[in-house]
Amino acid sequence: MKVTKSYLVSAALLISTTMAGVPAIAQETSRVDVLHWWTSGGEAAALNVLKENLKAQGVGWQDVPVAGGGGEQAMTVLRARVTSGDPPTASQMLGFDVQDWAAQGVLTDLNALAAKENWDKNIPVALQQFSKYKGTWVAAPVNLHSTNWIWINKKVFDDLGLKAPQTWDELIAALDKVKASGKTALAHGGQPWQDATIFDSAVMATGGPEFYKKALIDLDPAALGSDTMKKVFERMTKLRSYVDSNFSGRDWNLASAMVIRGDAAVQIMGDWAKGEFLGAGKKPGTDFLCTRFPGTQGTVMFNTDQFAMFKVGANRQAAQQKMAAAIEDPAFQSSFNVVKGSAPARTDVSDAAFDDCGKKAIADVKEAEAKGTLLGSLAHGHAARAAVKNAMYDVITGEFNGDYTPDQAVKELVSAVASAKQ
Ligand code: GAL
Repeated sequence: MKVTKSYLVSAALLISTTMAGVPAIAQETSRVDVLHWWTSGGEAAALNVLKENLKAQGVGWQDVPVAGGGGEQAMTVLRARVTSGDPPTASQMLGFDVQDWAAQGVLTDLNALAAKENWDKNIPVALQQFSKYKGTWVAAPVNLHSTNWIWINKKVFDDLGLKAPQTWDELIAALDKVKASGKTALAHGGQPWQDATIFDSAVMATGGPEFYKKALIDLDPAALGSDTMKKVFERMTKLRSYVDSNFSGRDWNLASAMVIRGDAAVQIMGDWAKGEFLGAGKKPGTDFLCTRFPGTQGTVMFNTDQFAMFKVGANRQAAQQKMAAAIEDPAFQSSFNVVKGSAPARTDVSDAAFDDCGKKAIADVKEAEAKGTLLGSLAHGHAARAAVKNAMYDVITGEFNGDYTPDQAVKELVSAVASAKQ
């Protein structure tokens, strides 16, 4: 092959673009291959904190992004990779999905690192139940998100003389006033996981923590089929009357953008939404308000993003261990979660670097943990396993879109859960 000038230049570029001083072959050993669904602006900004952290330790990053909020699509891609014998170094994963993957025997043992770094002492037991499988750490929890938040455009509320609603009735009154003004009252993306995110809060606000636990965690048929659950679905139908005509299929971050721009007043969404507001240069208390979904104050419906670590070849294990250690480092836990919108996964991280919404998230977790009202989000895989969660998604979305009356939805929910549990 004739060695042209351009070949030499491109070869030189290739060498220079490898990690400085690291021969290509060594890159395999100092690189992590990571599957995730953090593709929105705020999510990518937070993920970059981890990438930069690892780069500073000489660990490269092979990105495997799978767009699709809530991670459904990501799990499909992951299944294909693992089935073909090509697992990533790590994959973002939620709640019971970690348990299901661990049961397949494909996740690695992180106990030595966990013991060295004292994870058992500093990570809440509520999270550990998902990160450990039969006593073995198999995943590194990176945050503690929660779903029972509403995000308000402050100018829209100020212009209408509205305050952040504290009760269901105040929420409805505020949404009515915004709707009457001609603006979209509720910014929403019509996707099952987003409908279910609203459902999390509707159940908690209507039945309280005991009912939430009985219905969505214990899957008690009497609770699932109760008049209380019928009232939940009636409230879901009421909320449906406040969305705009183009809500169906909208991605969650585009709904956040509607509130950021002031085209809509409120979004009901987990606190990853804050990452979008921050990314748009908005300030809590000035441009937007974060407040618990009315009627859920004192409870936290959480979902923790984990990086499940897969069994990989010896040449990839050092980088994998560095990634797991980096995730649980207290300084990283602060710098990452400040951007992501979540509370840290560790309880020994100061809230000094967090804004008022972040400080509230951290305080609420501490209060809920003490009161026993830190409960797993159904919508995000922390209340029931995937088969049950997806069966509930179908009923929730069906009712939200008018395929079922509240009465029919309650009956559908009982039978869907019963068959999914088998
Ligand atoms: C959740 C995840 C968040 C965010 C959100 C939207 O399940 O925990 O980190 O990614 O989905 O995609």
